[in-house]
Amino acid sequence: MRRIFVTRGIFSQSAERMKQAGYTVDFGAEWSDTFSKQDLIEQANGAEAIISFLTDSIDGEVLRALSNLSLVANVAAGYDNIDLEVAREKNITVTHVPGILTDTTADLAFGLLLAVARRIPHSERYLQEGRYEGWKLISPLLGSEVTGKTLGIIGMGRIGSAVARRGRLGFNMEVLYHSRTKKPEVEQELDATCCPLSKLLARSDYVSLHTPLTEKTAGLIGEDELKQMSSEAYLINTSRGKIVDEDALISALKEDQIAGAGLDVFQGEPAVDSRLLELQSKVVITPHIGSETREVRKTMVNTAVNDVLKVLRGDEPENPVVDTSA
Ligand code: GLV
Repeated sequence: MRRIFVTRGIFSQSAERMKQAGYTVDFGAEWSDTFSKQDLIEQANGAEAIISFLTDSIDGEVLRALSNLSLVANVAAGYDNIDLEVAREKNITVTHVPGILTDTTADLAFGLLLAVARRIPHSERYLQEGRYEGWKLISPLLGSEVTGKTLGIIGMGRIGSAVARRGRLGFNMEVLYHSRTKKPEVEQELDATCCPLSKLLARSDYVSLHTPLTEKTAGLIGEDELKQMSSEAYLINTSRGKIVDEDALISALKEDQIAGAGLDVFQGEPAVDSRLLELQSKVVITPHIGSETREVRKTMVNTAVNDVLKVLRGDEPENPVVDTSA
């Protein structure tokens, strides 16, 4: 029987759809368990399709080892966990799930921005620790204004535009952006201004990262870039941890070069650098929950399954990864 390999547990209705279409569906791990590359190669052997997640490294070694494989359906918007060059060489289709998690991730980015600027988690801790002794004009919880400030978006794709929209329409922010291509429609809709990275960093009160992780964007925000930001500015990252040089970020926070950071992603996920945790008065950190709502996670899996069924019956997928480096 034709085989589909899913690296970890998915919603049972989605698995059922593939079984009803006549495929054997095998799972590598339960829900959130980690899964080693060697296990993946052994257990996916013979599968025509793999349904993968951003924590699975589908590298050249994996792709070359699986001779029956014709499709990798990544249940994520990003696809930096897949070696596209080897996939192309081996004629393996790669799909992802763009679009679905745009608003969900933008909501979280804005949530982190508000949380770190208005010190919401810090204030809650303060209260929980029994330190609140009454309203004070100036307390250790003094935050920063958001409305009317300048929002710098790095990477004005779907999610970047959705964050910009929240900033402009919800909080009357001035929007600056830096992107691979100019976005006239966003400029028109949100009065956004395209500018060089250095100008964006120097002028923004909030810098929010929305680029995919590529060779060009790895370490995009390092020591030099952080130095260009104002000491009252905040960095928000809901894209990929490796876009920021974490050592440089930790130094910038410790030395008050920037005011704070809201991070949903970090370099050594799932391990968090303990220095970031120690900086809890300036950092709000969440465990990569950008797309984590019941509605969106179900739709992400169903969208991937739709493409698996299409490709395996010989049709074109709806969401192929377009490798712009090719
Ligand atoms: C999440 O980070 C995704 O790429 O889907």
